Amino acid sequence: PPLDSLINLYDFEYLASQILTKQAWGYYSSAADDEVTYRENHAAYHRIFFKPRILINVKECDLSTTMLGTKMDLPFYVSATALCKLGNPSEGEKDIARGCGMGEFNLTQMISTLASCSLKEIVEAKVNDKQTQWFQLYVNADRKITDNLIKNVEELGLKAIFVTVDAPSLGRREKDMKIKFDPSKTPEITNEDKSHKKQQNTRGASKALSTFIDPSLTWNDVIDIKKKTKLPVVIKGVQCTADILKAAEIGVDGVVLSNHGGRQLDFSRAPIEVLAEAMPILKEKGLDKKLEVYIDGGVRRGTDVLKALCLGAKGVGLGRPFLYANSCYGKDGVNRLKEMLADEIEMNMRLLGVTKISDLKPEYLDMISLHAR
Ligand code: FNR
Repeated sequence: PPLDSLINLYDFEYLASQILTKQAWGYYSSAADDEVTYRENHAAYHRIFFKPRILINVKECDLSTTMLGTKMDLPFYVSATALCKLGNPSEGEKDIARGCGMGEFNLTQMISTLASCSLKEIVEAKVNDKQTQWFQLYVNADRKITDNLIKNVEELGLKAIFVTVDAPSLGRREKDMKIKFDPSKTPEITNEDKSHKKQQNTRGASKALSTFIDPSLTWNDVIDIKKKTKLPVVIKGVQCTADILKAAEIGVDGVVLSNHGGRQLDFSRAPIEVLAEAMPILKEKGLDKKLEVYIDGGVRRGTDVLKALCLGAKGVGLGRPFLYANSCYGKDGVNRLKEMLADEIEMNMRLLGVTKISDLKPEYLDMISLHAR
C-alpha cells in the first residue's frame, strides 16, 4: 500500500506481519516466554490518564529538548535493534540513519553492537551534519574487542555509549525459536567477530547472537568503561529504583529504564511503572539533576511519550516500530513514522495545554489506576 495510507504506528506493525519473511517477523516481533511483559509495557500506559489545562495559548508548540548535552529536535529516539538487514536486506541500519535525517526534524539513532551494517557505513549514511547517533554496547567476554569498539565509536563521532545490562543471557523467545537459525540466510554482524556464523542449527536468531555477550558483566565493568571514554555513558536495562540509585552513585550520565521490549525476563514490570516509582525518590535526593533517565518499551502513541515526559523521562526510545517501518518502506518509512509520532505529540501537547517539553510535569497526570494491574 502507498505509504501515506498508513496513519499510525500499528499500521506499520500489521503490514510487517503480512510481508516480512518468517525469520524476520519471528526475530523482530518475539518476546520472552508468555510475552506478559511485552504486552504490559504498552498496557501500563493505558492506566495513566491526563488532567489537561484549558484556555492556554498553544499556537506555538516546541518539541525540542536536550539529551546528554546535545540539542534534539524531538523528545524520542530510535532504540538499538540488532540485524536491521533481516527486514531491509540491502540497506539495513543505513536506511534508519537516512530516515532519521530526512524532512523537518532530525531524530537520534542508537546503533546496536549487533548491527548488520558496519558502524562506518551507518555513520556515513547520515544525510545532514546535525544528526546525532549513539552507540549501544554489548560488552564482549574478550575486553579487547570492546575497547576497540569504544575507540571506533569515538573516532566516528558518535555522541554517547549505552551499555546494555539486561541480557546476561538472552530470554526465551519462542516465536523466534520455532525458526531454525540458518547462518547462510542471516546478515553478517559487522562490528564483532563472526562466531555466530559457526553456530549451525541453533534455534532462532537470538540464540545464535547470544555468543557475543559476556554473562559475567558487573558494576565494576561499567566503572571501567566510564574511565575509558570521555563520551557520556548510560546504562540500558535498569529495572528498579535501587539500581538507578546505584547508577547515580558510580557516576554514569544516565540510565534507560527498559526490559528490552519484553524480550528478557518475563514478568519484569513495565518501565513506565518503574519511572513513576523512581522519579519522586530521585528528586527528593536531588539526583534528577545528576542523572538523566530514559525509557523504552511499548511506546506506540504520542500520548505514551507525553506520559513518560510528564513523569520526568529525558527521552523515550522505540525499537520495533522503526524496524517495521524500515522493513516495509526503508528510509521513507522511518521518516514517516518519525513525522507521525511528532504530529501526535504536538497535537496532544496542545490539547494538554503545554507548549514546551520542559513544562510537562506529573501534575498533568492522573496516576490512580497505574497499579491496578
Ligand atoms: C532489541 N533491543 C536491543 N537492545 C539492545 O540494547 N541491543 C540490541 O542489539 C537490541 N536488539 C533488539 C532487536 C529486536 C528485534 C528488538 C525488538 C529489540 C531492545 C531495544 O533496544 C528496546 O529496548 C526495545 O525494542 C523497546 O521496546 P519496543 O519499542 O520494541 O516495544
